[in-house]
Amino acid sequence: MAASYEQVFENNKQWVERMKGSDADFFDKLAEGQQPEYLYIGCSDSRAPANQIMGLEPGEVFVHRNVANMVVNTDLNVMSVINYAVVHLKVKHIIVCGHYNCGGVKAAMTSQDLGILNPWLRNIRDVYRMYRKELDGIADEHDRYNRLVELNVIEQCTNVIKTAEVQQQYAANNFPVVHGWVFDLKTGLLKDLNINFEGTLNNIKEIYDITPH
Ligand code: CO
Repeated sequence: MAASYEQVFENNKQWVERMKGSDADFFDKLAEGQQPEYLYIGCSDSRAPANQIMGLEPGEVFVHRNVANMVVNTDLNVMSVINYAVVHLKVKHIIVCGHYNCGGVKAAMTSQDLGILNPWLRNIRDVYRMYRKELDGIADEHDRYNRLVELNVIEQCTNVIKTAEVQQQYAANNFPVVHGWVFDLKTGLLKDLNINFEGTLNNIKEIYDITPH
């Protein structure tokens, strides 16, 4: 149930007390800086909160969320997040996490003019086109929808791997490693799609190589 606007500030005070209760210095440490091991790129959907589903505390995961967890090459926002996380925070893992029942993916499967969302969702329609044969072969519409959620995650992982930051840091340090996950709203469980990070990296290098030789 939705809390009233004022209730949010009450919740905040209670949360502060709870956190101090388990660690009196919690907020002093928080203010000192961040060294998160993970970058999480997920959907803005209110039902898929990064920290909670990963069981992580403030300071443990750098988060970027947008409609349908997209990594669009010309999106200065997500590209800045990846740059900062990889070059400055030196995260060890980058996770692209989609979720079943994703409204953005659903919208991209319908013939509808959605205004400003059109160019954004077109990136998902492009994923459909790339995997058209496989997707059109799935008779059940809901299964096809779930599979597009997974394929979209895999493609967005590839988009992360195309960046110079990821290629150069990985060549130098053997991290970050990119992972593709799907969050299942019905069970609360995360599914690792076990993308082949090394294989994808080697595969795309012929065309997208940005490491100096
Ligand atoms: Co979504």
